[in-house]
This record gives sequence, C-alpha cells and structure tokens, in this order.
Amino acid sequence: NANISHATAAEEDAADGVLDVNEIPVRFDDAQLWRIYNISEHMQNNMPLAEMLESKFGGVIWKENSKFLDISINKENLKAARSYLTEHNIDKEVINTNIQEMIDAAELEGIKASQAEAGSRTKKQTSSGIDWKDYHDLETIYAFMREIRQKFPKICRLYSIGKSAEGRDLKVLRISENPREYKKIWIDGGIHAREWISPATVTFILYQLMIKWEEQPDYIKQRTWYIMPVMNPDGYVYSRKVNRMWRKNRARIPGSKCIGVDLNRNFNIGWKGRGSSTDPCSDIYRGASAGSELETKAVVNFLLRRKHNLEAYLTFHSYGQAIVHPWAYKAAKVKDSAALQRVGQTAVQRILSETKSVYKSGVTYQLLSVAGGGSDDWTRAACDVKYVYTVELRDTGKYGFQLPPSQILGTGKEGLIVVEAVAQAITL
Ligand code: ARG
Ligand code: ZN
Repeated sequence: NANISHATAAEEDAADGVLDVNEIPVRFDDAQLWRIYNISEHMQNNMPLAEMLESKFGGVIWKENSKFLDISINKENLKAARSYLTEHNIDKEVINTNIQEMIDAAELEGIKASQAEAGSRTKKQTSSGIDWKDYHDLETIYAFMREIRQKFPKICRLYSIGKSAEGRDLKVLRISENPREYKKIWIDGGIHAREWISPATVTFILYQLMIKWEEQPDYIKQRTWYIMPVMNPDGYVYSRKVNRMWRKNRARIPGSKCIGVDLNRNFNIGWKGRGSSTDPCSDIYRGASAGSELETKAVVNFLLRRKHNLEAYLTFHSYGQAIVHPWAYKAAKVKDSAALQRVGQTAVQRILSETKSVYKSGVTYQLLSVAGGGSDDWTRAACDVKYVYTVELRDTGKYGFQLPPSQILGTGKEGLIVVEAVAQAITL
C-alpha cells in the first residue's frame, strides 16, 4: 500500500517546510490497460461502469471520453474484473499487458539518451541540465526557470505565487518587454501529476521562445507571457518517486485515509456539477469546496489580479491528441466559439503538416465529457479570456502517460504550434 508512514514523515520533515517523499515505490507488474467502448450503455445499477471498476476492482481510470474508457487493472484483480465483464457482456480491448514493463522501458530509454548526451563532446545547451531527451525532476525544471531569468534579466521576472500543500514553491515565469502594455498569454502544465509530457512540453515552449527571442515575430515579442510548467509540484514529485499513476495534488483530507484533490475539478465553475466526485479516494475528487486547494488559490489570485489584457489561457494535459475549448461544465455554446474553433483547427492543420500527428479540435463537453471545476472554464468565466484551450498532447493510447522520451521533442513542437497559432490570432 502506498499510504504507509505519512504521519511520521509529516512530523519529521515539517521543520524543513517541504515534505520529503520516502515511501516504497508502487509497482505495476502484470497490470493491464483495458479499453472499453460505449461505456454509457453499461450503467451498473445506477453507477457508471468506470466508477464501479474503480471501487470494486481497484481500477485506475486513465482516460474517459465520449467514445471510450481506458482503465488499468492490477494483477490481483484481473481475474475478477475479467469475469465481471464477461458476465455482463461487456467487451474490452487489451491495450497493454504489463504496465510496469512500459514504465521501465520509458525510464531506460531516458537514461540511455542522457548517457549518450554525457558521452558526446557537444556541451549541454543549458546549465540547469534540462533537455528534451528525457523527463526531468522538479528541481531541474525550477533550475531551468532560474537559468532563463538570469540569461534575460531585463525581460524576465520569476514569481513564487504561493506554496503547495507540502510546502513547495509554485513558480511562474513572466516574460515581457512591456508588461504594462502588451496583451497577456498564460501557459500552464502539470496540473495532473502523471502527465509528464505536459511540463516537458511547457519547458520546451519556453526554451524555443527564448533561444531566438530577438528574431521572434511581433506576435510573440509584443506579448506578456506567463509560464507555469508545473501547477501541481507535489503530485509531480510523488509520481516520479512513488506512484507513476498519481494524478491529484497531495493534500491530506481530514477524516479520510485517502490523499489528494483533482485540481482540474477544484476551480469555482460548475463545481458541484457532473464529472467529479465527492469521494476523497476517487481520482477525480473535487475537494471540500470550490477553490479549496492552495495550488488552485494561488493561480486564481494571481490571474484575477492580472485579468486585464489577458487574452489567452493555455493548459497542457495528456493524453488524447485534442485541442478543446469551453465549455466543459455545461453543454452550451461559448461566445466566440467560431473563432475558438477556427484557431484550434488552424493548429490542428499545422501540426498535421509539420509532425504528421493527428489531433482533433472541438468543444470540451462534446469531445471529452461534461466535467465541472476545470481551470479552463474558470479562466474563461472569471477572467473573461477569449482564447481558452486545453491541449491533450500525445499519444492516443499506445503508451498513454508513459510516452517514450524519444517523443518529447515531437510533442513539444506540437505544443509550440498551438501557442504560435493562438498568439498569431490575437491582434497586437
Ligand atoms: N483530461 C482533462 C481532465 O480531465 C481534460 C480537461 C478538459 N477541461 C475540463 N474542464 N474538463 O481534467
Ligand atoms: Zn490532465
């Protein structure tokens, strides 16, 4: 079990401010990933099938959209879950038969890529040690943000906009040649811990904007950029050290043995509505109240104070290859939906021609599902931002969250294309 010795860990490390992670890593030997279609047809006495598999067979929901459900089942529950589906005439596709192997393969690939880098005579391009051949620790990502600030002191400002539940800094980098005048674009990643490609893509975007800053077109240079690669640092650290499949933050929930709130269900928009859970043990637990989490509060307060001139909000997730825009919390049309669809489609086309990846664009509640409490909908409603997109990066399910490190660069390019298309769409 992943929950041993929290209390003592908390007490011992409280003095340092940051909770140390010292649990035994969770393993996924022989755990399988299943894909089940037409899930809405399979209500099990008033309980959605996904929830049922979650509570009864310890299934971990990887992805749920309007077409299918991806769920992982641990070795010890395979037999029971299998016979349950057979009994109820529910078909499944087995996508993967050993998730641990997939995790190990991705890790090994990253190690090899860094060794090749270390062995080659070409110097590392960055002093923080970040690259886009492997996924990196929170420390390296934060060091990279400091490195950028040091290289461009005149136009950069590095904020700690608050602390996470376990006391880590929540860092945002601002890049602007004229913060008073220029229109603002916000980019974030890492709301969900296990979606490692998201912080990797956001740091890639940051790097690409800065390495040729002087040559950038006006629609990039005459903007104020706010970049937050990791909105959920505690979850990210936990996913790297203990449980690869961790999604939520790491807030302790009074009265529950379970930990963590889904930050993308915690924002104050349609918070009590569909698509989230009141159960602290669920992966889509919405929290005790709207905006209850420190991470949510920090972002909300920061954005509310800067909503003037805020023209775009982009948030990177994985997986699914989709560029979606509001609403998610209700099945209704957003104003500007035509413009949002057009720009989303422009990005989809450019991605297809430049990297050959097939992305979809559309409205969140249609393409994914109805879900309240999302950062995208909140920003749209509370900050009156026009261009709001959630980008689901690679892939479409083959590797899921364990996207091989060799795909980081290609995926990063796709993220950059979205950013450029949106920046270009906004009038100067
Ligand atoms: N995979 C993301 C999530 O489940 C999609 C977010 C889309 N936006 C939303 N407000 N639900 O959080
Ligand atoms: Zn996500």
